[in-house]
Amino acid sequence: MSNERGTLLITAGPTREPIDPVRYVSNRSSGKMGYAIADAAIEAGYHVVLISGPVAIQPPPQATLVSVITGDEMFDAVAREILHADVFVMCAAVADYKPRSASPQKVKKKEAAWMLELEPNRDIIATVPRGDRVKVVVGFAAETHDLEKNAQEKMRRKKCDLLVANDVSGDASGMESDYNAGIIYVRGRSPILLERMPKRKMADALLKIIASVEESY
Ligand code: PMT
Repeated sequence: MSNERGTLLITAGPTREPIDPVRYVSNRSSGKMGYAIADAAIEAGYHVVLISGPVAIQPPPQATLVSVITGDEMFDAVAREILHADVFVMCAAVADYKPRSASPQKVKKKEAAWMLELEPNRDIIATVPRGDRVKVVVGFAAETHDLEKNAQEKMRRKKCDLLVANDVSGDASGMESDYNAGIIYVRGRSPILLERMPKRKMADALLKIIASVEESY
């Protein structure tokens, strides 16, 4: 397995937060963007550790796959793996909320309305303990409006060196699509506009920017 550039840790896909044994809270992330970055990183010479939520696509065979279901499982996996990572890319769409408690048995359907109490999942990228080794932390911002303003605020709050802001309001790119478009923010540099392109091509562009940030340290 290639390891010329060190280890790139990437998260991908959604998380599922159980309501009961047959129902969950989740989102539309397909994992395509994260898996494309994993593939591009392997080609660029990284050893890739891919922490993935439940998706219907195949991981690159050379990646070390860590499969998780919930946001809490993803938090624990990142906290473990980040100690051995040189680059950390948080592409997963962690469910922002989870049911306060999951029923051990299937909840019976009733005629009355059902109020589900949700609590926030822990923020992984902002709060996971970072070892001395990790040099570049890359976040994503999935936005339906005010892309630039929200992305810059997230980059600060989540302590990222680099942030990929993508518009997820339509079907032509973003979630589930084979295409993506966005703006890459790099701390201390001008934003880089990426027009709509296949996710694998965007992954190559992102990897080049990560390499230039690594080299600048
Ligand atoms: O999987 P695809 O269908 O290919 O779609 C790709 C994508 C649109 C999901 C991907 O490109 C993307 O934008 N991923 C991040 C989605 C997201 O959760 O965005 P956010 O703006 O809610 O979160 C901002 C950042 O915080 C992200 O890096 C996210 O991974 C991270 N986060 C969010 C919540 C949480 N509890 N912990 C986190 O670390």
